[in-house]
Amino acid sequence: MHNPIATRFSDAAHRYEGLAHVQKQAAIEFDLWLASLGLRAPDSIAEIGCGTGFFTRLLHQRYNSAALCITDVAPEMIEVCKAKFSPSDMLRFEVQDGRSLCFETRPDWVLSTMCFQWFTPLKPVLRHHLAQSRLLAFSIMLDGSFAQWQAAHERLGISSGLRPLPSFDAVFDSCHTLGANKLHSHRISLAEAHPNGLSFATSLRAIGADQPKENHQPVNLRAVCRQLEHGFSANYEIGFFCIER
Ligand SMILES: C[S@@+](CC[C@H](N)C(=O)[O-])C[C@H]1O[C@@H](n2cnc3c(N)ncnc32)[C@H](O)[C@@H]1O
Repeated sequence: MHNPIATRFSDAAHRYEGLAHVQKQAAIEFDLWLASLGLRAPDSIAEIGCGTGFFTRLLHQRYNSAALCITDVAPEMIEVCKAKFSPSDMLRFEVQDGRSLCFETRPDWVLSTMCFQWFTPLKPVLRHHLAQSRLLAFSIMLDGSFAQWQAAHERLGISSGLRPLPSFDAVFDSCHTLGANKLHSHRISLAEAHPNGLSFATSLRAIGADQPKENHQPVNLRAVCRQLEHGFSANYEIGFFCIER
């Protein structure tokens, strides 16, 4: 496997469910938001980047007559997710790269939670999935996330290894220029308390979300952590988008 992101998430798959509290909460809120839009229920749904299936399980409960094609680029994530369901003709699990994946049978909806921030550039991926469905909806991490961690680096005059995240407006514009019929959007902020900086860095590694940005030169994390030794709140800025063709 040559995709380092996939390798990290596969390695973390058996720990993820017990540690990814923010991702679980984000899945719950995204499911509720999507339901609040009053959309016509789909016959088929494809999910990209299912992880261990926080959102998959909510989908299966809410749209229980829809066929689900559940995908992730990390094979172990698919294995862990699959193990949480009883075998059913309505559920298909596939290891697939969500950036380019073409569905044999076009799903009504393509959905994803907390995965599209790994896709750069994002817009071609959005265009690709909207062309093979009638609705594309996703949650995505936004810039401004992990503000205290970033600020601790800035005070030291160094750059953190966190990958750049898009702004809400940039994602909105990308969605808007796809020429969709309707565009719904929303944003939320979630926070996770950490006793210190090391706990935050360790938690990202533990769930497999620690692939640094390209060409990142490792920095002196001890100095960063010293600034955060009295605890801090890691904020997750998250955008919800739903594009109807
Ligand atoms: C932060 S986890 C989110 C998982 C799940 N949706 C959730 O909300 O808990 C990101 C997931 O995206 C998957 N992922 C990353 N890059 C991907 C790609 N190119 N194609 C498909 N899945 C990808 C990872 O393997 C991981 O399972």
